Amino acid sequence: MVLHLNGVSTRFACVLAVVLSLCHGFSFTEFIVGPRMGRGIAVTPKSSQISVAQQLVNSNGYPFEEHEVSSEDGYILSLHRIPKGKFENTTNKPRRPIALFQHGLLASSDAFLFRGPEYDLPYLLADAGYDVWLSNMRGNIYSNKHQIFDSEKDPEYWKFSLHEVGQYDLPAIIDYILNITKEHSLYFLGHSVGSTAAFIMGSMRPQYNAKIKLHLALAPLVYVLHEISFPHKVFLGSSVSLTQSVVARNILNVFPRRDYFSKLLGALCGNGVPTQFLCLIFIYSLVGIDGEQFNSSYIPEFLSYFPAGSSVYLTSHAMQMYAEGDFRPLDYQNPFMNLQKYQGLSLPSYNLSLVDHPVSLHYGDGDTLVTEEDISFTESRLPRVVGKVRVPFTHFNHMDFMVGSDAKDLVYKELIYLMNKHR
Ligand SMILES: *[C@@H]1O[C@H](CO)[C@@H](O)[C@H](O)[C@H]1NC(C)=O
Ligand SMILES: *[C@@H]1O[C@H](CO)[C@@H](O)[C@H](O)[C@H]1NC(C)=O
Ligand SMILES: *[C@@H]1O[C@H](CO)[C@@H](O)[C@H](O)[C@H]1NC(C)=O
Ligand SMILES: *[C@@H]1O[C@H](CO)[C@@H](O)[C@H](O)[C@H]1NC(C)=O
Repeated sequence: MVLHLNGVSTRFACVLAVVLSLCHGFSFTEFIVGPRMGRGIAVTPKSSQISVAQQLVNSNGYPFEEHEVSSEDGYILSLHRIPKGKFENTTNKPRRPIALFQHGLLASSDAFLFRGPEYDLPYLLADAGYDVWLSNMRGNIYSNKHQIFDSEKDPEYWKFSLHEVGQYDLPAIIDYILNITKEHSLYFLGHSVGSTAAFIMGSMRPQYNAKIKLHLALAPLVYVLHEISFPHKVFLGSSVSLTQSVVARNILNVFPRRDYFSKLLGALCGNGVPTQFLCLIFIYSLVGIDGEQFNSSYIPEFLSYFPAGSSVYLTSHAMQMYAEGDFRPLDYQNPFMNLQKYQGLSLPSYNLSLVDHPVSLHYGDGDTLVTEEDISFTESRLPRVVGKVRVPFTHFNHMDFMVGSDAKDLVYKELIYLMNKHR
């Protein structure tokens, strides 16, 4: 995808491609996007290994638990939990309100964990008395198992979009957590398409709305009304052809976490490296320019946590929402697959008036992916919006919700305040 952005990175990418294609049988698309089916790189961490998420949480002095949940359609999802704060005793606080995180596109739980308790919201919440859970979307590095399918070999595994995350995964996760904790409802924190999935759940499975005490929607991608910038047109506008060309190469797992890839990009994007400006152009043209909140010395580290992989169809779904401006299920551009997935040929928009859990909408003025205009429209469609909050910083962008230098002061404190208020 780097290829399409601008002349400079195209030339750079071509040079790289020529150099690399000297290796026999090398595919540039596979190198950038992901492995062909059956040519799997081992994405599954060995079960005996301690996960990266656990290492991060434990090294910061917090307890960590990993839980597995099966969805109705057989996907095995990995939940990460910080059951209590660093300095707390289990005994003197029996009931802790639950905070469930859902990351955005191509991310995983650890993207919220790697900066540590000074910066990251899960630790702040654990110390504020919350029982913190982090979901991993089906298809990412932690959630790539299935009761029947092998994600490295079976194309069937990858046939899902955000629709199934909302329809099957979030309900299974919420039921599991509420059952274990004996609670009736929880706080849901969704970033970008993570929040989108909760809106899908609320419209497809309305009985789950009662289980969400408050939904903190951080730059949720729902309806896209704003005028689309040129880089976004290039990058997101051609979702159908882009998806088809990737699928035609038998690549279904896109942008998985790969050590060599992270290291290579990290080396090209590090502080003091002349090519860093290319990385910055790419990142800023995608998520909005914010040199103040984005600490460029984090790029190499960030790249070892992001991306963490997803299905080509899930990314395609996000792109479709962007290209169409409509909030509806993914059109697989194939009547047979649509029928198989949705038991019908028409794909009407999700009905937001059914989503009657309380929602607090948060947006940044520097976010070029989800703008105030989009958020206002979403607000007008939702029956129970408790607040629409602008982050008080001019250039606050899409990614800053996750890794902004001052996100703690600008956003997280407000979120904890709102959660405490909505008991
Ligand atoms: C936790 O328990 C220990 C001993 O039982 C006690 O000394 C300590 O003050 C407690 N910490 C908190 C935060 O309550
Ligand atoms: C609820 O949790 C208990 C153990 O705490 C387990 O035995 C039971 O199967 C769970 N029920 C559901 C519906 O997950
Ligand atoms: C950026 O990150 C580096 C390394 O993590 C840190 O030393 C530095 O203080 C950060 N700068 C700002 C402005 O946050
Ligand atoms: C959406 O749901 C509302 C509330 O149940 C209902 O009145 C309305 O007809 C639905 N809209 C569509 C297009 O189905």
